[in-house]
Amino acid sequence: MVDDRFPKFIGALVIAAAALVGPAQAQNALEAKLQVCGACHGQDGQPVNAMTPIIWGQLTNFLVKQLHDYRAGDRDNPIMSGMAKTLTQEELRPAAMYFTAKMWPAKKAVAAPGAAPDGMQVCQVCHQQGFVGGAPAPRLAGQSYEYLIKAMNDFASGARNNNMDMVKIMSMLTPDQRDAMARYIAGL
Ligand code: HEC
Ligand code: HEC
Repeated sequence: MVDDRFPKFIGALVIAAAALVGPAQAQNALEAKLQVCGACHGQDGQPVNAMTPIIWGQLTNFLVKQLHDYRAGDRDNPIMSGMAKTLTQEELRPAAMYFTAKMWPAKKAVAAPGAAPDGMQVCQVCHQQGFVGGAPAPRLAGQSYEYLIKAMNDFASGARNNNMDMVKIMSMLTPDQRDAMARYIAGL
């Protein structure tokens, strides 16, 4: 006869051990995993190159969605797909909150932006006044020109299609209009 008390006992031990690895330990384990992000996104929040976006101080919901989209293949980038897959679905929100809680890096010395190019009022309906981001859309102010123009051109061509509003809006603009807008936003 098989004694079935033994597996139950082991099961109870496993549950007890899991309870000991409480939220604090889980958070430490997650933060250890997130150290690698700084290799590109910057140890001080300033990305190491202009093609890498600032994520410190970015909106939580936006970061969660991007990490989800990279994991799912809805936003195509080989590096970030691999990085996002090092996190579990459950870790995406705590990871995003970890970066949101940090300070958006201080602006590098850039020329003061001139007048906003035509057609930019509509952007601020979602990206908010001054492009500082809010519930409907991420912060853009202070991202690099190189990252912004790539994101805008990727939406326009449909290479990035994880938001259909942005695909429509960007494809209605000419390349010159997108370029002028990216330059303006990078200078904010
Ligand atoms: C090897 C360099 C590298 C590493 C390491 C890296 N990233 Fe990225 N990350 C990038 C690049 C480049 C992009 C822009 C990709 C694109 O154009 O879609 C990006 C984009 C992102 C975005 C989208 C932001 C936006 O404004 O659209 C998020 C969120 C992000 N990374 C989070 C992370 C997290 C969290 C980690 C660590 C688990 C991480 N990254 C590690 C290079 C890196
Ligand atoms: C209807 C709301 C809306 C309007 C209007 C809008 N955006 Fe967006 N935009 C979004 C959302 C939402 C995202 C994030 C999409 C995603 O999930 O990747 C986004 C993403 C972006 C990104 C990529 C940000 C990043 O870090 O990856 C850029 C650049 C951008 N928008 C520029 C603009 C510009 C310039 C305009 C005006 C011409 C504009 N947007 C108008 C909602 C909007």
